[in-house]
Amino acid sequence: MVVCSAPGKLILFGEHAVVFGEPALSMAVNLRIRTEAEVSSKFSVNDQDLQKQKHSYVYECIENVWKGEPLSLRIDSGIPSAAGMGSSAAVTVSTLGALLRLKGEFDPVLIAKKGFEIEYEVQGSASPIDTTTTTHGSGILVAREARNNLLWVIRKDGKEWYLHECDLPEMKLVVGDTGIRSRTGPLVAKVRSYVEESSFARDVVSEIGQITLQAVEALSDGDFVSVGALMIRNHNLLSVLGVGHPKLDNLVRVASDLSYGAKTTGAGGGGSMIALTDDPLEVAKVIRENGGKAYIVKYEKRGVIVEC
Ligand code: PMV
Repeated sequence: MVVCSAPGKLILFGEHAVVFGEPALSMAVNLRIRTEAEVSSKFSVNDQDLQKQKHSYVYECIENVWKGEPLSLRIDSGIPSAAGMGSSAAVTVSTLGALLRLKGEFDPVLIAKKGFEIEYEVQGSASPIDTTTTTHGSGILVAREARNNLLWVIRKDGKEWYLHECDLPEMKLVVGDTGIRSRTGPLVAKVRSYVEESSFARDVVSEIGQITLQAVEALSDGDFVSVGALMIRNHNLLSVLGVGHPKLDNLVRVASDLSYGAKTTGAGGGGSMIALTDDPLEVAKVIRENGGKAYIVKYEKRGVIVEC
């Protein structure tokens, strides 16, 4: 039997724009998914027969890397699902880790690359930001070209993403989940059709990329006031791209009053926001008072690991 785990993630800057090759910044958080795998008489997930529709990510992991005997998998998630914290990437990466460990081929580069292919396949389109963050842990900067601390390069459909480790300062972040479930694939498709037909939307996407690079500088200077202002600008540009939601905007507004800044995190259309603050308990309280679920999260350095 083997057990692997992988962390959740938050996108700090650049979601959606990263699908088009623009820079983006993310970090792993201290919530994890564990996958336990052992050889068995039939394929099962948490004692249910493995089903392609129901267990789409796990099913694709098995299809992609496992040619052996049937497996019993037990998946234990400490990451809220569809809340912008990367639960689908973490389940994919922890499962790939467990399968590859059983084969004696555990390798983070392989896991990040396969994880991206699987997310792309299931979601319809994707960037490698989620799967790389949960694989490597720490902060991740996606850029158009190689910079310091390059981890790996991922290519797909004529695009290239250079994935780097990015050391981040200690930050107090609160996630506010609107509870409105939105699917990433259709939102990515919606932004894509807007970008294909409108040069204005293309300008918005490249401005989000510029904001990400400015945020990397501000974070390395520990200048949270500038980071907060950039968060608000990034949030407003995501709304322009059509992935906003009134409840999300409201949580961003009330949290901003008690924070350096706040913004959508992940695909939007409902989903979640983050706030950077010195007072996480007060921000969590105001998020709850406004109908959201609040999570105070910490920076996590560890990516996918073999636990036993
Ligand atoms: O909602 P999440 O956590 O799956 O994040 C999606 C991020 C996007 O940039 C919208 C899509 C992607 O694959 O990068």
